[in-house]
Parts: sequence; structure tokens; C-alpha cells
Amino acid sequence: MRRNIVAGNWKMNNDLQEGLKLTSEILNMVQDEVNDNVHVILGVPFVHLSSVSKLLEGIDNIFLSAQNCNEHESGAYTGEISAAMLKSVNADYVILGHSERREYFHETSQLLAKKVDIALANGLTPIFCCGESLEIREADTQFEFVCQQLTESLFHLSPEEFGKIVIAYEPIWAIGTGKTATADQAQEMHEILRKHIAGKFGEEIADNLSILYGGSCKPGNAKEIFSGKDVDGGLIGGASLKSRDFVDIIKSF
Ligand code: G3P
Repeated sequence: MRRNIVAGNWKMNNDLQEGLKLTSEILNMVQDEVNDNVHVILGVPFVHLSSVSKLLEGIDNIFLSAQNCNEHESGAYTGEISAAMLKSVNADYVILGHSERREYFHETSQLLAKKVDIALANGLTPIFCCGESLEIREADTQFEFVCQQLTESLFHLSPEEFGKIVIAYEPIWAIGTGKTATADQAQEMHEILRKHIAGKFGEEIADNLSILYGGSCKPGNAKEIFSGKDVDGGLIGGASLKSRDFVDIIKSF
């Protein structure tokens, strides 16, 4: 279902107390300042899921996301977390395919296809990340590259399954760099992704999908980026660690 979404990705930040403090600040600000036309998601490290979930009980427009899950149902995978475990602590979403996991943990499109499957099978909504490197952008092959990421990891899904996915386009050269994509660059890629999706699953599913932008999205640029007709919100890293900035981005719609 297509909706305005602002999702925070805390990455590997905040100890338990810091996470509770940040969540409480965001929750209070959202309740005081934000109408319910924006779906807010907190993408937190595993250790925060249970405690943040308790703070969000009864709150109907702030949702909980993990940042990864294992591709197996359960078993001898020391240190890993299963999709079923995430669901058991009330996660609604799981971020999959983030460029940092593709790079540092060598996650391939084929592995991500399995992670998407098991997330969906356990009632989690994948926030599927895609995006090109600076080298690919400079070679002007970004559209083919990012469309192929979707094809390889998502196009095996049924139309009904695919319709549950949230896409996050995050140009790698904009992540954590302060070098944000322009609103035109974001809109252009989102439009091309939506057309690529329509080619496989049809216009109705493509038009009803949320496609988020991520990469140095800040309070000062969010409004312009979100004004793109195919931009449905943002996946926010650094700015999600500051309650005022994160809520100001939510208020950009
Ligand atoms: O997943 C969102 C993240 O990759 C963007 O990070 O710090 O550039 O907003 P940042």
C-alpha cells in the first residue's frame, strides 16, 4: 500500500538507555506535532526491539523495524537473528539489502531474495534497499544497475507478495556523505524504478508501492526531495539519531 513514510535507520548506534531516550523524545514530538498522514518507522538495532516495542504500544502511526534478519527459519547460525524472532518482539518491518550490508557482509542479490522470502513468510514487511556507487553514477549506468537489483532480488515474488514491499533508493555516494541527490535525480530514479516494476507486475501494483529516498536526507532538503511525484518519503540515517531533526523531516510532507 502506498503511503507517506519516514523511516529512521539508527544503524549501529545508541545503547539501551540512549535508545529509550531517543524513542521517547520522538514519540512525544510526533504526538504533539505530526498529523497521521505520515507513517513513521524506527529502524533500530536488535537489542532495542523489545524495549522500543513496549514504548510504542497503543501508538498507531509509529512502527518498528529491524535492520536485518537471517535467511534461515532457525538453526545453528551463531549470532544470527531470525525473522520469526523479530516478529515475536513485534517488529513490523525489516530493512534488507542496505548497501553497508552488501559491502561489509557481502550480501548478494540471491541471498537477499531468500531474506525477502523469509521476512514475508513471517509477516514482516521488507524495506528493500537499492542504489548505485559513485563509479556507476559517473559511468551513467545507474538506471540499469538499480533496476537489475530489483529484478534479481524481488521479481521472483508473486504480484501479491511484491505489493507488500517498500523500496528504498539509496545512492551509495549520498549515504553519510552530506552529498544528497538532487530532487530531480531522486525523482528520475524513482520514476524509472516504478516503470520497471510496472513492466513486471503491472501499473496498479507499481502505482501502489511506496518508494523512499535515502542518502543525506536532512530537515533542510527533505521537503524538496519529498515533493517528487514518485518519492513517497525517506529512509533516514544520521538525522534519525536527533529527535528534532528526525521529526522536522517527518513534518516536511
Ligand atoms: O538507511 C539510510 C542511510 O543509509 C542514509 O544515511 O546518514 O546519509 O541519512 P544518511
